[in-house]
Amino acid sequence: MRDLMEITARPEVISLAGGLPDTSTFPPQSFARQMTKIAQESAAEALQYGPTEGFASTKECIRQVMAAEGMDPDPEDIVVTTGGQQAIDLITKALVDPGDVVIAEAPTYPGAVPVFCSYEAETVQVEMDSDGLRIDRLAETLDRLAADGRTPKFLYSVPSFQNPAGVTLSAERRRRLVDLARERELLVVEDNPYGLLRYEGQPLPTLYELDGGDYVVYLGTFSKILSPGLRLGWLCAPPPVLQKVVLGKQASDLCTSTLAQYFVAEFFAEGRWREYVDSLCDLYRSRRDAMLESLARHFPGEATWSEPEGGLFLWATLPDYIDTTDLLARALRDNVAFVPGAAAFADGQTGRSSMRLNFSGSNEDEIREGIRRIGAVVSEQVELYEAITREGRTLLPEQDAPHPEPEAGADVVPLRRRGEPGG
Ligand SMILES: Cc1ncc(COP(=O)(O)O)c(C=O)c1O
Repeated sequence: MRDLMEITARPEVISLAGGLPDTSTFPPQSFARQMTKIAQESAAEALQYGPTEGFASTKECIRQVMAAEGMDPDPEDIVVTTGGQQAIDLITKALVDPGDVVIAEAPTYPGAVPVFCSYEAETVQVEMDSDGLRIDRLAETLDRLAADGRTPKFLYSVPSFQNPAGVTLSAERRRRLVDLARERELLVVEDNPYGLLRYEGQPLPTLYELDGGDYVVYLGTFSKILSPGLRLGWLCAPPPVLQKVVLGKQASDLCTSTLAQYFVAEFFAEGRWREYVDSLCDLYRSRRDAMLESLARHFPGEATWSEPEGGLFLWATLPDYIDTTDLLARALRDNVAFVPGAAAFADGQTGRSSMRLNFSGSNEDEIREGIRRIGAVVSEQVELYEAITREGRTLLPEQDAPHPEPEAGADVVPLRRRGEPGG
């Protein structure tokens, strides 16, 4: 992933790989106004260290963002973090000892995989479908673990517009998940960077709201609704968990950027943050539609993909003889990039015929051209495979090896094929 990000920073590459929001939409005059105000009125404070938990003024902005999705957290339960990524790191650091089990969706957020690995957690991934995490499969996984005398430290979930699959946990499953968590005393870490980026359909309650915050730790971020450059996120947890998280944060970076927190407070004081989020939704809706149209045009009939109602990503699955890690090398020669599916699995093996595609960081023309180029590379592979199998020969040596058996419970999101009802 690190190498990929370096390559995709080249201007000639159309990158559908990263999860970049379009920061060019943020009005420079507004940025200049807020920073000037800070410089004139609070330069010394804004350039100073701050409390590890974060400023009360930042927590007030966080409360507004959470209230927009129906939540009402106690400011005492909030710690301001250096992005959502640090929140994942801190909760893992606080709770996980080497060998502990963490449950995650299959596929899961590629940036969470190295966190779980670095604390030596064993990540067990549970299947999803187009309604999000399969709660029946989660219950089976918990039973299996319990039979082995193992209790998972937590379930890590991105219920809304999941990164990378683009699917959303249905209302009915949200209730079942919260009930199951209570019944089994399972801590759920709900990571929700995309909840407000909804382009169609009705908003759904968060797990945190449904549960009341007893069994759900909530992670949020300003990255996708304002700016990732600020590196500002947060974590909401009951006091005993929060205390450990704050200790871990002190060891990591003492406090979150004071300057970034001052900026957010100024921006929110203008009272137009919802307007900005609405403008992002309009922009990303059109880009998502451009990507969906292009996929229908340029991808082979055997391919499937999710149709996200929000967020920044969709997940496409190709015929299983295509390895998207190999395909990426070929695509990069045509200056287009995506994230290979294997990055979303802790075993690095499952999901090898899938890819994550981002539609927020490129304009519509780039998206169309990017998908056309990927489609051309995929068609090449399909034709090659068909030609070779027609001749009764085997495939190229490196593609010859059958994909390893996925771990029990771990699989790519099975999606409806085009042409099937609802597909
Ligand atoms: C699900 C998820 N969690 C966390 C993050 C990290 O975001 P941040 O920029 O706030 O660190 C991302 C970024 O793409 C994400 O998709």
